[in-house]
Amino acid sequence: MVRFENVGMRYGLGPEILRDVSFTLEPGSFHLLTGPSGAGKTSLLKLIYLAERPSRGAIWMFDREIATTPREELPALRRRIGVVFQDFRLLDHLTVFENVALPRRVMNELESSYRAEVEELLSWVGLGNRLNAKPATLSGGEKQRVAIARAVVAKPELLLADEPTGNVDPDIGGRIMRLFIELNKLGTSVLIATHDQRIMERVPAQRLFRLAEGRLTTANAADAVLAEAKRA
Ligand SMILES: Nc1ncnc2c1ncn2[C@@H]1O[C@H](COP(=O)(O)OP(=O)(O)OP(=O)(O)O)[C@@H](O)[C@H]1O
Ligand SMILES: [Mg+2]
Repeated sequence: MVRFENVGMRYGLGPEILRDVSFTLEPGSFHLLTGPSGAGKTSLLKLIYLAERPSRGAIWMFDREIATTPREELPALRRRIGVVFQDFRLLDHLTVFENVALPRRVMNELESSYRAEVEELLSWVGLGNRLNAKPATLSGGEKQRVAIARAVVAKPELLLADEPTGNVDPDIGGRIMRLFIELNKLGTSVLIATHDQRIMERVPAQRLFRLAEGRLTTANAADAVLAEAKRA
């Protein structure tokens, strides 16, 4: 579904902030991406979302090698991905309902085919009574929940979520995680960038990617190194 081979990335002429990043996301997989602030988590998600280009290495998305894919074909690949951005990126002139419904409208679906689902999703994240509110009137955590509902509403093949529980209380955070797990059970591959200790505790170690100083390790690899060191 996603494959990175020795990917490096820099912003403009700045230093490389990602170095030799290699990993594979299988269809239906569930992974967390963790690492200190500034480690490059958001940048890595931007590469997957095709919002930035690597300065080195190769990226395959849905079996397409990105560097050789014509630019005009990228939006179609992007539509197969649901994204929760760290800064939400809601459309201010649309209501909560309209923001969440947008991915379905873009797919030319009739409102009658998604209205109930959008309402149900918004109830699930605790916003059933804010359907007609504009984003400007919402709190940070409420905006985050709208962004989450919008990211999952079209049941994307891949879901990327950047600190999706950063602004909500533990109860809502738990509901959001259950939503992601349900979506994963329906076949969506999920990658969540997070510092949230409560989320990390709920996910097996082999599903943890760690970024530090631009390099990616899995908890597995780290364990292997530790085991190696103990043997020596
Ligand atoms: N648009 C940009 N232009 C230049 N440098 C950037 C840009 N965005 C991020 N960076 C730099 O790239 C590095 C990685 O940033 P990134 O946002 O990917 O980190 P992060 O792991 O998501 O951090 P956080 O946990 O704080 O969200 C940082 O050193 C940051 O200053
Ligand atoms: Mg970030």
